[in-house]
Amino acid sequence: MAILPIVTYPNDILEKECEKVTNFDKKLTKLLSNMYDTMLEADGVGLAAPQVGVDLQVAIVDIGDESGTIELINPEVISTSGQDTDIEGCLSFPGLYGEVTRPYQIKVRTQDRKGRTIEIQAKDFLARAIQHEIDHLHGILFTTKMEREIKEEDLEGYEKE
Ligand code: CO
Repeated sequence: MAILPIVTYPNDILEKECEKVTNFDKKLTKLLSNMYDTMLEADGVGLAAPQVGVDLQVAIVDIGDESGTIELINPEVISTSGQDTDIEGCLSFPGLYGEVTRPYQIKVRTQDRKGRTIEIQAKDFLARAIQHEIDHLHGILFTTKMEREIKEEDLEGYEKE
């Protein structure tokens, strides 16, 4: 088990297009495992590889429901529907929270750790967390989509992505 240091804003790696994964090897498995430990330790619901200084299209999401841990490798949103506005935060922006509007429901095509292509459907908070992480892989930060900042003292039981 390894807890990796989390990169906080500003840092160039947070704002670049990450490289696609081409090797589905032990190194990738280890990265996923270390990212999982790091996310749990940081009490987050998602983490993207650039947030631990790795320039690869790899992210994980776990909102603590029956969906378990979702591993996203070279993911792409292929369809969306609806719209929803809710509060987001980010482990790379400690203490910052704000409202972001995103599609309510999404379909994502991604690869798993063995390189197999799979499709995932998600809605509501899970869809939000997945979209937030996929944005990270393209250097897009939630602050660029934030409509209104929410003060930390006005938050109740909110989780960080
Ligand atoms: Co984030």
